[in-house]
Formats: sequence, C-alpha cells, structure tokens
Amino acid sequence: MKKITIAIDGFSSTGKSTVAKQIAKHLGYVYVDSGAMYRAVTYYAMQQGIIDSNHFNVDGLVANLDDIKISFKFNNSLGFAEVYLNGTNIENDIRTLEVSNFVSKVAEISKVRQLLVKQQQKLGKDKGVVMDGRDIGTVVFPNAELKLFMTASAETRAERRFSELIERGEAVSYEAVLKNVQERDFIDSNREDSPLVIAEDAIEIDNSNMSLQEQFDKILQLVNITQESIE
Ligand code: DC
Repeated sequence: MKKITIAIDGFSSTGKSTVAKQIAKHLGYVYVDSGAMYRAVTYYAMQQGIIDSNHFNVDGLVANLDDIKISFKFNNSLGFAEVYLNGTNIENDIRTLEVSNFVSKVAEISKVRQLLVKQQQKLGKDKGVVMDGRDIGTVVFPNAELKLFMTASAETRAERRFSELIERGEAVSYEAVLKNVQERDFIDSNREDSPLVIAEDAIEIDNSNMSLQEQFDKILQLVNITQESIE
C-alpha cells in the first residue's frame, strides 16, 4: 500500500487527536499534533512574560522566534510522541486552560504560522503521516490524499474538554471551558491568516453522536478507499 498524507482539521476539542493517534498507530504512520506546536510557542511566551492576561508583546515574541526549538519524541509507554520545548518535555504543561486561553491569539500571528507551517511540512515530507490542526488540508498539505473535517456541537466539545481537565486535576468550571471553546471557535474561524475553513475536497465527520470506535472504523474505511483509488 502506498503511503498517504492524512489531514484532519476541525474545531477545538472535536477529539481529532484521539482518533488521529489511533489511526496513525494502526497504519504505522507518524502522528503530528500541530496544535501542540502553537501551544508550545504560547507556553514559551508565558514563561518569558511576553503574554499574560493584561498584555501581549507581539513584537517581543516575533523577535524571539529563533530561540524556540520545538521537537517531538516518541514515548513508548504512551504510544505517541510528546512535545518538547528547547529540550524540555512540556506535554502536560501545554494542556492547561491558561494556555488554551492565550493560544488562539498566538496562532493569529503570521510570522508564527509561517515558522510552524514550514516545520510541519518538513515533518510530513515522506508521507505516511496523520496531522491534525486547523489549516492542515488548506495550507500545510493542500495536496493531501485524504482530508477530514471533524465537527461536534460546542456543548459536546466543552463537556469532553471539561472531563479531561477534571481528570487531570485542574479546578475549572464547565462554563469557563464552554466559554473558551466558543471564543477559540470565533478567533480560529475569523483570523486573517489561514482561518479555519473546510477544504473543498474535505470529508466532514460530525462526531457528536459517534463513539471512538465508530470514528476509527469510518476513517479507516476512508483510508482504504483512498489508497485503492491511488494504487
Ligand atoms: O488543537 P488544539 O486545540 O490543541 O490547538 C490549539 C490552538 O492552536 C487552536 O485554538 C488554534 C491553533 N491552531 C492553529 O491555528 N492551526 C493549527 N494547525 C493547529 C492549531
């Protein structure tokens, strides 16, 4: 079977990464969480005092972009690659609601996007990759053989994210998570550079009422159809 590129885009907390990881594992493909890269830049900006709830020094961040080295290292026991910032594992640090609250602002900056898109294209240059994000099928891999667009209602997504954060021990309210999901939807869809839009040739999957197994089966079926069509 020829290796293909699988681009999975969609709103935040649609469960893209969970199913993407499973598909990549099943196919022996590399999985890349592009959102983790935007989160890593955001975490860096927070650590350096470049962004907080009162200010955001955009020029300061752009001037420091050369200092940000993002890498992924496969964790055998977890079964997926964790994200590192300048050699430090930040996989857990980037999943907090605080990072979620700032990340869309960082992802609006064209210089940040240019840098990360280049790195993402490099990570996928040999195909055999499953990458999820917001602009993977439209900007990063416009020629991807399979493009998926995942959707679910904002309430369903907030419930999922809320359970995840609670499980991780974060003291958050459902209302705060729903507000974050809605705000990020708005910023991600309305920013000037690479807004979240469905690619013309993407297949939309609304997973509001689908189990993980159903999503996995559906996507695998689409992968098989795609591979057969290009053999
Ligand atoms: O997938 P996620 O929730 O971890 O992504 C975090 C943020 O990063 C999201 O609000 C928008 C941004 N993002 C982006 O602009 N482009 C991508 N390819 C991936 C994420």
